[in-house]
Amino acid sequence: MSQHREHSDHQLSDRERGDRERSGRAERLWWMREARFGLFVHWGLYSVAARHEWVKQRERLDDDAYQRYFEHFDPDLYDPRRWARLARQAGMRYAVLTTKHHEGFCLWNSALTDYKATNTPAGRDLVLPWVEAFRAEGLKIGFYHSLLDWHHPEFPIDGLHPQRDDEQAQAAAKGRDVRRYADYLHGQVRELLTGYGPVDYLFFDFSYPDRTWGGKGRADWRSAELLDLIRSLQPDVVVNDRLDLEGDVVTPEQYQPTSSLADDGRLWEACQTLNGSWGYDRDNLDWKTPDQLIRMLVDGVSKDGNLLLNVGPTGRGEFEPRAVGTLDAIGRWMDQHARSVYGAGPATYAPPPDTRYTQRGDRLYLHLFAWPFRHVHLPGLAGRVQFAQFLHDGSEVPAEVIDPERQAQNTTMSGLGPDVVTLTLPVRQPDVAVPVVELFLEPQR
Ligand code: GLC
Repeated sequence: MSQHREHSDHQLSDRERGDRERSGRAERLWWMREARFGLFVHWGLYSVAARHEWVKQRERLDDDAYQRYFEHFDPDLYDPRRWARLARQAGMRYAVLTTKHHEGFCLWNSALTDYKATNTPAGRDLVLPWVEAFRAEGLKIGFYHSLLDWHHPEFPIDGLHPQRDDEQAQAAAKGRDVRRYADYLHGQVRELLTGYGPVDYLFFDFSYPDRTWGGKGRADWRSAELLDLIRSLQPDVVVNDRLDLEGDVVTPEQYQPTSSLADDGRLWEACQTLNGSWGYDRDNLDWKTPDQLIRMLVDGVSKDGNLLLNVGPTGRGEFEPRAVGTLDAIGRWMDQHARSVYGAGPATYAPPPDTRYTQRGDRLYLHLFAWPFRHVHLPGLAGRVQFAQFLHDGSEVPAEVIDPERQAQNTTMSGLGPDVVTLTLPVRQPDVAVPVVELFLEPQR
């Protein structure tokens, strides 16, 4: 890579950079729009503490107090092929690993720090086998990288820092220079984009310019320059919206948006936990059910969004049994229902209550979030439905337009609007987490 090329990018105006980003966005995002469902993996020293990935901040631990987790980080049961198989079998089509979280510990063999996995009992680069394993299972790979760094000697203490109330530490940290920290950040991003082959997604985390004293944003990270560096090294990588720049992907977190959050050709992706914590949180029993998670996935797709579902492996490098069980249950549903998710998106019809529509071309998928008694009525579909079947077993679901003039009598229900299709369902809900009726639409004339 010639030095000249990089130098010229620095002179891009914000507007030119914005145009560059928008012009290649659709091409960058196609795989992600098709995939819809990914795995997030939060793994680091906090996995040994096993009480949330912000443990250092929550308990105001300094580096000395936190060092015991470095000394005891020994993931002897780490088997990334098993992680990758579990993700693929759950129906996930991409995966994002925390290369470095806010604690500053690096899972790869960075030449720019000693605070890395190779210097712990792990004794090796943990990112390379992860990348190889997930690629071998056919998944796209992404790197999460924290912009915050609660270990780096040049990262200025601020209102979110573990030493935010420690005056002595703040006095000692007076001379810290965020520009030197940004040099480190840029250097490490270069390592990740030159040492592991093509990277499909970069998930930076997070900018907080106005949230607290000493808050940091694009100026601190030199985000525009960083994005130019990224584009010069890997032009096709998808970048999220947390560099305090527009980004390709809007990333709501731990809530379900009520409508699409994407504009300007961007995609939105909700990142969700299994139990509220991203890092392994041993005593946290606030687990979501597989049904709930499947409904969150479907709800997102019906609003043109993705789900990035997190697992926090243990300090020994395993997915805990409850996480494996949840992925397995989701996988059983995806085995039969994947085509209502992959490459699907919002429908042009308004769904009846307690349901969601996803659509992919002339297939409309009605996801039943609650099981109605015998009938569900679909406004606006009269004359459009060629055939209807349950997706899990391909069995026919009777679909009719009831004569609007028909009067109700005994077991006969009255007619509904002339544009309403009525489906007749079995009394008992089929034994699947979220039943889906696949509607074959007449070709549009
Ligand atoms: C938030 C959390 C952070 C987590 C991230 C995932 O920023 O603070 O711990 O990694 O969300 O999206």
